Amino acid sequence: MQGWCLVIVVLLAIADFSNSQYDELSKHQIWQLNGKDVDLVSTKLSEDGLVDVLDLSGARIKMRVSPEDAEVVRETLLREGITYDVLVEDLAIHLKMQELKKSDRVTETCTATSCPEPFKESYMTFEEMEWYLEELQKTYPSRVNITSIGKSVEGRDIWQVHIKSTGCGPKSAVWLEGGIHAREWISPAVTLQLINNLVKHCSIGKLFDVYAVPMANPDGYLYSWSNNRFWRKNRRKNSNSPCVGVDLNRNWDYYYGVGASSNPCSEVFKGDSGFSEPETLALKTAMEKVNETKNLVMVIALHSFGQVLLYPYGWSTTVEAPNTPEMIEKGNIFANVSKISFGTIYTVQNSAVGYSLISGATDDWAKGVLQVKYSYTLELRDEGAQGFTLGTDKIAPTGQEIWEGFMALLYAIRPNKYIVP
Ligand SMILES: *[C@@H]1O[C@H](CO)[C@@H](O)[C@H](O)[C@H]1NC(C)=O
Ligand SMILES: *[C@@H]1O[C@H](CO)[C@@H](O)[C@H](O)[C@H]1NC(C)=O
Ligand SMILES: *[C@@H]1O[C@H](CO)[C@@H](O)[C@H](O)[C@H]1NC(C)=O
Ligand SMILES: [Zn+2]
Repeated sequence: MQGWCLVIVVLLAIADFSNSQYDELSKHQIWQLNGKDVDLVSTKLSEDGLVDVLDLSGARIKMRVSPEDAEVVRETLLREGITYDVLVEDLAIHLKMQELKKSDRVTETCTATSCPEPFKESYMTFEEMEWYLEELQKTYPSRVNITSIGKSVEGRDIWQVHIKSTGCGPKSAVWLEGGIHAREWISPAVTLQLINNLVKHCSIGKLFDVYAVPMANPDGYLYSWSNNRFWRKNRRKNSNSPCVGVDLNRNWDYYYGVGASSNPCSEVFKGDSGFSEPETLALKTAMEKVNETKNLVMVIALHSFGQVLLYPYGWSTTVEAPNTPEMIEKGNIFANVSKISFGTIYTVQNSAVGYSLISGATDDWAKGVLQVKYSYTLELRDEGAQGFTLGTDKIAPTGQEIWEGFMALLYAIRPNKYIVP
């Protein structure tokens, strides 16, 4: 028996060392701030590249602090009269412990005759996503058209799935974006489930062409698997800075720079200029192409976490976007239907009012430049308990409730009321 224990301990130790997605998080802490003006102070610290604000939605702001910057942050908070609790002492250890509690990675098998399915019991690697998309194309050649709309900084493909409409008559187009923020793993997972359901749900093709990019930031996603589970940005090597990455959801060229940082070390670094990044440029170009030929009626960018459906504008608290009442009305339909299966509440709110000012995001550009009627940012589960490291047991239910809400949304905005999707 003793021999066996030894073997197991050694194996665990080896597993520990090879598990490098936590390496860069060693001695990083999670702090929760108390006091007034915490949002202003944390926003400033974030723009200065000193902290990673994890949860902007509530009054109790949580942020990740690196060991290098902890002292400066502590002094700033002290000066501002803000106290804090250390929720997590060492994020790398914390995440490894969570991992050990979970069972092994589930290997989902398939047979030669079964249809391809995105995984529901584990998060997929980028290679697994590419495998799934390839299988989908082979299985449904007349229903889908999967093309690369461009390449990332490191040269990976950004895949677009066009779920084609059927029959004659005018159709509307819908655009879905997933995975623009690397660490929000539930976003590509849900986007792939929506794609999978859409392909099989043929009658939607009578009304809509759906375009979906399930993984908009492949480089960042890979990095969140290999080096840093909390990686958010792309993998741009910034000039004149040791810090890597641009926040792709601050890089869209519409009121560019409001509520975003010019500091390359910040998690919300906007980049050198609007559309400076190949990932955002590829998305923009592909969306323009859809808008030129079809009636692009809705854009949804999937993120996590917070359980809110945000509508533009994010760049201003005073300027109301066109069709705001319609966006709220249809958003409420989404929220009400998404709640049915598991009771999950998605709150519908304006992105600037709910959060701090945010510009350069997909939804603002789609609304402001493309003038898409329904433009949203959807923050998926949860409300912060697990946050970015949402458990794999939540993949299937989140996918299901979002599918139900999404279907209701499509039904509500359908171009021909005599046809039911
Ligand atoms: C797929 O989409 C690409 C890019 O839009 C287009 O060039 C190609 O003709 C399409 N293929 C099919 C079979 O529709
Ligand atoms: C459901 O719809 C009503 C109005 O139709 C709205 O007041 C409510 O906030 C919606 N959302 C949820 C989660 O129930
Ligand atoms: C998008 O399409 C709409 C409707 O055809 C059009 O009014 C608008 O100018 C287009 N936007 C761009 C940026 O091409
Ligand atoms: Zn995000």
